[in-house]
Amino acid sequence: MQIDANTMKTGLLGHPVGHSKSPEMLNAAYRREGLPFVYLAFDVAPGDLESAVTGLRVLGFKGWNVTIPHKVAIMDHLDDIEESARAIGAVNTVISEGGRLIGTNTDGAGYLRSLVSETGMDPVGQRVVLLGAGGAARAVGYALARAGVERITVANRTESRAEALASHLGRWTKTSGIGLSRVEDAIREASLLIQTTSVGMHPDSSACPVDPGCLHGELLVSDLVYHPRETRLLKEAHRRGARVHGGMGMLVHQGALAFQRWTGQTPPVATMWDALEESLKETES
Ligand SMILES: NC(=O)c1ccc[n+]([C@@H]2O[C@H](COP(=O)([O-])OP(=O)(O)OC[C@H]3O[C@@H](n4cnc5c(N)ncnc54)[C@H](OP(=O)(O)O)[C@@H]3O)[C@@H](O)[C@H]2O)c1
Repeated sequence: MQIDANTMKTGLLGHPVGHSKSPEMLNAAYRREGLPFVYLAFDVAPGDLESAVTGLRVLGFKGWNVTIPHKVAIMDHLDDIEESARAIGAVNTVISEGGRLIGTNTDGAGYLRSLVSETGMDPVGQRVVLLGAGGAARAVGYALARAGVERITVANRTESRAEALASHLGRWTKTSGIGLSRVEDAIREASLLIQTTSVGMHPDSSACPVDPGCLHGELLVSDLVYHPRETRLLKEAHRRGARVHGGMGMLVHQGALAFQRWTGQTPPVATMWDALEESLKETES
């Protein structure tokens, strides 16, 4: 990749960012398409966010991704926020258009693209259990609610957060919010279980967020955790005849949608997938 005075700059703001796989994915995509773009990661402490945004604006960045802990705070520093980000309550992608900074959120749409393209599942009419009520659950819940699922039961360790998210998503579909003591009964009635908590993530990869005995063959189990690529929950689900869907695709597709917004071109999804897989293999070895 040749970098010169005309190179278009994109990147990531987070804290920390050392673990991020986005630079490998996005730079592989730019190289594959022969585009004069580069993607860099910046570790920005919370107190420095405003200065960082001013810096990127002045330096002419075409756009950037935003990750923990800046997804909500960044909204105060942008010129416009698109409907998806407003409804989710967080921005993960910024696009500079004619000097104006536009905030959007590609996490929910990225998840949906991954689910549909990898499993063939039609979201319409699905009975969903959404495990977790954090930022990822908000994005995924919004995308599913808008896509026509029959109902969403939000189950969370802190029940009040489950109730709050269920009430928010209730604008678009039937919902309820429950604590974890009732999650197994809800799963027995569900067709799609989506695990959005950090339970099962490396290094605690033997953990399973629900009693595996409630998993069944009519279920599609989707886990947002991608390190390890096959979580204990997915192994238990597969063993009981359920279909499974891992978290890698969401990461690829949210990045692919950002690529599309910055470059105006169709993203090379297979190239991004391969770059992510390669990087994860290195991390896991
Ligand atoms: N594949 C992808 O592209 C992608 C994208 C985004 C996120 N993720 C993954 O999704 C996970 C959550 O991210 P987030 O941004 O939503 O985090 P977050 O906003 O901090 O939310 C964390 C959620 O996990 C729950 N939780 C945490 N520890 C738990 C435990 N020991 N037992 C039960 N519940 C627990 C929390 O429950 P309380 O409300 O009770 O605290 C909360 O609902 C992470 O593993 C992240 O890597 C993946």
